[in-house]
Amino acid sequence: MTTTVGAPTTYDLGPARALSCRECGHQIPLAPEFACAECFGPLEVAYSFGRIRRADIEAGPKSIWRYRDLLPVPSDVDSHPNTQPGLTRLVKADRLAAALGVKSLWVKDDTGNPTHSFKDRVVAVALAAARQLGFRVLACPSTGNLANATAAAAARAGWESVVLIPSSLERAKILTTAVYDGALIAVEGNYDDVNRLATELAAEHEDWAFVNVNVRPYYAEGSKTLAYEIAEQLGWRVPDQVVVPIASGAQLTKVDKGFRELGELGLVEQTPYRVFGAQATGCSPVSAAYKAGHDVVQPVRPDTIARSLAIGAPADGPYVLDVVNRTKGAIEDVSDEEVVEGIRLLARTEGIFTETAGGVTVATAKKLIETGKLDPEAETVLLITGDGLKTLDAIENHVGPRATVPPTTAAVHKALGF
Ligand SMILES: Cc1ncc(COP(=O)(O)O)c(C=O)c1O
Ligand SMILES: [Zn+2]
Repeated sequence: MTTTVGAPTTYDLGPARALSCRECGHQIPLAPEFACAECFGPLEVAYSFGRIRRADIEAGPKSIWRYRDLLPVPSDVDSHPNTQPGLTRLVKADRLAAALGVKSLWVKDDTGNPTHSFKDRVVAVALAAARQLGFRVLACPSTGNLANATAAAAARAGWESVVLIPSSLERAKILTTAVYDGALIAVEGNYDDVNRLATELAAEHEDWAFVNVNVRPYYAEGSKTLAYEIAEQLGWRVPDQVVVPIASGAQLTKVDKGFRELGELGLVEQTPYRVFGAQATGCSPVSAAYKAGHDVVQPVRPDTIARSLAIGAPADGPYVLDVVNRTKGAIEDVSDEEVVEGIRLLARTEGIFTETAGGVTVATAKKLIETGKLDPEAETVLLITGDGLKTLDAIENHVGPRATVPPTTAAVHKALGF
């Protein structure tokens, strides 16, 4: 790419054909834009897909790039240095299923990504698109995981990064971002303040790609790969039910978009599926709107240990409500105590250690089952989107050694109650 940002040009973004307004449907050519000029609604990528075969996908790279013909990226995307996220394991969770009283349960374990959360997927797509669109710096406002993923992806690509975080973020998430040596700026404010600041900076710095702000239409598409992988790993089948944590809500809407595309392209049978959303009660604006039957989301001031999900004014809130209502799912929220119990339940039944966001998903699934909203007979997938090592403070006062003993067998036996 030799063009400058904003110059009229055609971009090589694979099957992506246009940007389409999610509110009024107005379409514009592919461009570094994120808001509709007609109504200020958010723009989304529209495609014209070629013929896509399962066998070609299966023979592709062992990363999200096996789905490159379904993403807004050039076909040679993997020839540029990138973190190669995706193709994380889908775990048959029989012991968790038994504990929850459901028949068939899977855990999509996205802790296995390069920086240990699903954010590596969206950032990899954003970087690939940003390169084509002529940006030079990778940036983001973040609740933590996106900070990790952006700083790491920029380091690997040899790009500069500017990452903005609330200064109150978990220590682990600060250090695991700072280590990549980009420009990490801690902002005195909550995520919604940081997000507003990023929008202002994006307007001033033409060559900064704020992945989830001015490159958001492209970035968000990366979450479709969760749906593609789940379907492929189930043997090209869409599950009956899926439970997804909600912060901005982008992930949930794109998991739905991914399942729909697979059906429309004939890669899976078009079977019905239900999408469920999970929030922490201390930041549950989408859950509150769902329960009240509203189609708009009233912003809240977050107060929860699930800081990765602490977005009080979620950009995709109304679209989440659309998806959940259309697919006959539901949204539920859980207390911080339930979040910790969710983390511990997944750990002790499946040997998977998730961060607070995963605790929200597990605890919400439990509540949805107990209240009869989630069908215990139907095949269910839980999205476990981040790693517990980044939120150790959440469990610090809840788990620890059973005893501290001198190095003798007698002392160990005594501690074990023999
Ligand atoms: C671990 C984890 N899971 C889920 C989410 C929710 O993502 P979204 O903003 O797309 O709803 C986030 C967002 O930061 C996250 O960090
Ligand atoms: Zn519009």
